[in-house]
This record gives sequence, C-alpha cells and structure tokens, in this order.
Amino acid sequence: MAAFRAPRGTRDLLPDDRAVFDRLMRTASSLTTRYGYRGIETPLFEQSSVFERGIGEVTDVVEKELFRIAPRTEESESWALRPEPTAGIVRAYVQHGMQTWPQPVKLTTTGPMFRYDRPQAGRYRQFWQFDVEAIGDAGPGIDAEIIELGHRFYTEAGVRNVEVLVNSIGDPACRPAYVAELTAYYRGHAAVLPPTELDRLERNVLRLLDSKDPAMAELNAAAPRITDRLCEACAAHFESVKAHLAAVGVPFRVEPGLVRGLDYYTRTAFEFYVAGREGQQQALGGGGRYDGLVALLGGKPTPGIGFGLGLDRVALVLAEQAGADGAAATAEGPLAVVVSADPDDTVGRFRVATELRAAGLRVRADLGRRKLGRQLEAAGKDGAHFAVILGDELADGQVQVRDLQAASQRIVALADLARELARAESSHRHG
Ligand code: HAM
Repeated sequence: MAAFRAPRGTRDLLPDDRAVFDRLMRTASSLTTRYGYRGIETPLFEQSSVFERGIGEVTDVVEKELFRIAPRTEESESWALRPEPTAGIVRAYVQHGMQTWPQPVKLTTTGPMFRYDRPQAGRYRQFWQFDVEAIGDAGPGIDAEIIELGHRFYTEAGVRNVEVLVNSIGDPACRPAYVAELTAYYRGHAAVLPPTELDRLERNVLRLLDSKDPAMAELNAAAPRITDRLCEACAAHFESVKAHLAAVGVPFRVEPGLVRGLDYYTRTAFEFYVAGREGQQQALGGGGRYDGLVALLGGKPTPGIGFGLGLDRVALVLAEQAGADGAAATAEGPLAVVVSADPDDTVGRFRVATELRAAGLRVRADLGRRKLGRQLEAAGKDGAHFAVILGDELADGQVQVRDLQAASQRIVALADLARELARAESSHRHG
C-alpha cells in the first residue's frame, strides 16, 4: 500500500475522470456563452468574514465546515478556503464597482470548493461546482431563465430524469412572521426534538424543515408552510416564476420544505435531483435569489440570483446511468508515432516529431532505446494510426509511413510528411 494517500474526503481525478470533467466544463461553457454569461475567477480563499457574513454564522457551512487557514504570522486577518463561490463573487461585484456596469452583471465560474463535510459517496471535502450568478435583476423572468439554464445543463450533459424542485422562502416583509410561527410550532414539540434540532430551533429554525433526521419527518410534514404565508409581493413573484417556467416547458415541482443551507436566500429557491435515484437523496445542484447579499457585503442594495451545480455528483450519476462499463472515457491515440531502425537515434525521432507537432499534428516520438519491433509494438498499443519509420531512406530525405490500421506502407518525402499526415487524418475523420 502507498505510504501517502490523498487527504480524506478528497480524490484524484485520473485522466478518465478528468476527461469527464473536461466535457462537463465544455458543456457549461457553451451554455453560458449562449445565455450571455462571462467568466470570472476569484481567489480560492477569502477573509473568513466574507463567508461568515455572506453565508451566515449559524449555517453548517460556516459553523462546522469552513476550512480556516492558520496564518503564519501575527496578521489580524483570518482566511478560509471558499466553501462556495457566491459570497466571493458578490464581494468582487462590490469591490470593483460592478453596480455601474449594465445590469444584470451575468457571471460564471467553475472550480473547486472546500467544505469540511463528513465524506461519503458524492460528498467530498474538495468538490467542483459549475456556478452562475446574475446580479442586478430583481426578476422574476431571470429566475426562470436561470432555472431553465441549470436544467438544460443536465440535459446537454446527458443526465436523465432530472427533477426541478422550487420554492419561495419569502423576504424580510413576510419571513419574520413565518419564522415566529414556525418557532412556536417546534417549541410546542420541543420534547420530541433531537438535541441538534433543539439547538438550532432558537438560532436558525428554517433549517429544521430540511433536517435529514428521520425523527423529524412527521413533524416537518405537519409544519406551517411558507408558501401559504408569503406576502403579496413574494406570492406574485413566485407565481410569475412558475408561469415563466411553464411557458418553456421546464418540468418542476413546488416543494414547500425546500429552504437551502445558506442564509443569504430570499424568495426563489430551487434544487435539482435525479428522480427515483437509489440511496440517500443528494441534490445535484441548487440555488436561489439573494436580494440582501450585496448590501450585506457593503454594496448598495442590489438583487441577485444564481446556482451552483456539483460536478462530482453529475459525474457519479452519469456513471450510474451508463452502467459499469459504458461510462469510461477512452483516450484517443496519437495520429502517428515516430520510430526508427537505429535504436540509438532518439535525436532523429525527437526532431521529426517536434516538426510534426509544430505543424499542429498529434504525434509522439518513441524516445526509448529499443529495437524497431518493440517501438512498433508500443505504437500499436498506443492506438496510433501511423508509424513514421526513420531508416536508410533518410539519407535521401525520405521516410516510411506505415498505416498501422490498414497494414500498408509507403515512402514519403520528409518535406511532404506533415501535409500527407494531415490529409490522411482529415480524410479519416470525414471518410
Ligand atoms: P449549495 O447547495 O451549498 O449551494 O451547493 C451547490 C451544489 O454543490 C450542491 O447541490 C452539490 O451538488 C454540490 N456540493 C455541495 N457540497 C458538496 C460536497 N461536500 N461534495 C460534493 N458536492 C457538493 C451553493 O453553494 C450556492 N453557492 C449556490 C448558489 C449560487 N446560490 C446562488 N448562487
């Protein structure tokens, strides 16, 4: 067994895994371009208070899961690895005066996030999110557009049976009364509350609604529903979001218990699931509106909405849905491998391969000192289409080109080699 292993809750994305991620990122990038989002990169760490303030001190993400970075010196700042990108992006929005840009500012990023979570399948301490944020539009049209974009991402990525769950969690006008009512409700059942829920009751009662504790299921089913207690403005907003979704045929279900794990949300909240998936239900992605966040991080009051989709979970579901064997991405072999009759002529092979690569071709040189037969064998195993063989003809400026798939061979002038190989490749691709 290896002496060193990747830290608990993290994993290596080996080339086959990485190829799946690359494909997902290309899908994300093609979609966000079509929908008018532009890329942004913020640091992987921020001042801890960006997360404490933005996400909320009484959330699992901040209270239990923040990877705090121990400062090396007596600096007064403290930092933490980003558990999600929204707080950092909104920090950047305020810092760079993006409220003076045409609104909404539509931003997207994809990258690793860090949460000190209890590791299990689909839950890691370093995981990847595809994130979009539209800041400066109060909706409700943009809410539906973002939900539709998330749904389309799964469709284009090839995930089947994705379900959209939506809810409205109200705003500062109607939520306080609901929170008071909910608190009173759970207090009335304090005797049967598990200790962790009892603890959260006085601090963040909404979180009880999506407790994973089976002891809570019955109590939660009978709890007062936010959707019945929205103020007029929130109710109208929610109705309009649903009408926009229906207009483009996004299948969705209203789930009044959906409250999300981060404190910045107002009004629209949504999550994506795979319907009927075995095992513990994990959201594939989620998001919502955060109309108070920009002001919370020091900007002037500005509405916003976005989502984060977990790419690790998408990859997991794709593998499940493809079946054990269908999922692996196979690497494409090189167009050609340069080999030679003289085992010691690594310089010659290196030089020819370098020229071909400079001409834009996928070419590998065999740089070991082994016999021609072994070099050709390795080229075949590599899945190469051609072997370029350097031999006696080299003195006349020529090489042998062997088609490993058709088992034919011919002589080509070195000066024509790149053109010939490029032509063979394109006729192979289009033929
Ligand atoms: P979130 O629901 O905390 O939202 O995370 C979004 C997605 O990230 C989850 O649905 C899941 O797919 C993935 N995820 C979260 N934690 C883990 C983990 N430990 N391992 C693997 N995947 C995980 C947010 O982060 C918000 N920033 C979304 C958002 C953007 N809201 C508005 N804008």
